[in-house]
Amino acid sequence: MDLDTIFGLKGRTALVTGSSRGIGAAIAEGLAGAGAHVILHGVKAGATAGVQRRINDNGGTAQELAGDLSASGAGRDLIEQAEAIAPIDILVINASAQINASLSELTCEDLTFQVAVNFGSTVDMLQTLLPLMGARKWGRVVSIGSINQYRPKGVVTAYAATKAAQHNLIQSQARDYAKENVLLNTLAPGLIDTDRNAHRRDQDPAGWAEYVRTLNWMGRAGRPEEMVGAAIFLSSQACSFMTGESIFLTGGY
Ligand SMILES: NC(=O)c1ccc[n+]([C@@H]2O[C@H](COP(=O)([O-])OP(=O)(O)OC[C@H]3O[C@@H](n4cnc5c(N)ncnc54)[C@H](OP(=O)(O)O)[C@@H]3O)[C@@H](O)[C@H]2O)c1
Repeated sequence: MDLDTIFGLKGRTALVTGSSRGIGAAIAEGLAGAGAHVILHGVKAGATAGVQRRINDNGGTAQELAGDLSASGAGRDLIEQAEAIAPIDILVINASAQINASLSELTCEDLTFQVAVNFGSTVDMLQTLLPLMGARKWGRVVSIGSINQYRPKGVVTAYAATKAAQHNLIQSQARDYAKENVLLNTLAPGLIDTDRNAHRRDQDPAGWAEYVRTLNWMGRAGRPEEMVGAAIFLSSQACSFMTGESIFLTGGY
């Protein structure tokens, strides 16, 4: 078997939620580079224009759907719109909301919002897409989790819990769909240098440098493009005997 047969995604269509920037953008560009037609997604129309341009410039193909995944039924709507473009072979569940707050600081609104975006929309999307993938006897779901699903920190109490719930759902559905060749796994990053952390990094560069130096064995934050190889593996034929598992990309933790 050549590398293209194992890792190539030619002929596949991938939907990557939250692919306007950060990890989602890098994964979308990686999947397009491996041959997939990519459906990009951001909150508002036009959010993914730069990513789409880079994919096209590199010989790939992409188009955009938009929508706020906190809205009730938004995950289902997104899948239905994507399926109207082409059957979705690969779903990367990447968009998420993260509001830093300890349990004592957590407000009801912030809890509801994070649960809706991170967990509720995942339920919606899987409810809509998995039966279709099952009928087609091929599917890959890559759920972007977090080191926090496994080793939660108090400062991200609710966010961490939604990531654990998301992975739990991936595992139950992995079991149910394993015989249909629909394989679901979690890619769990550690700290990655994206807009999500920019505020903290820019506000206190020295404090940030010290935090990062001692955070993991490599002593640095990861880069979005360092998530791409594992995402391609989990999206491809190479991942034919793995389901309901997690790959942690943390720099050693
Ligand atoms: N960065 C890290 O250190 C880190 C660590 C562990 C896990 N992760 C996980 O990795 C994934 C990507 O993180 P990132 O750092 O690349 O994120 P990011 O730079 O903050 O980008 C977030 C993406 O999600 C979209 N998004 C945000 N809220 C949304 C909503 N309500 N509805 C629909 N889309 C929404 C954004 O769209 P717009 O651009 O249109 O707003 C954007 O594309 C997330 O699941 C995150 O939990 C990140």
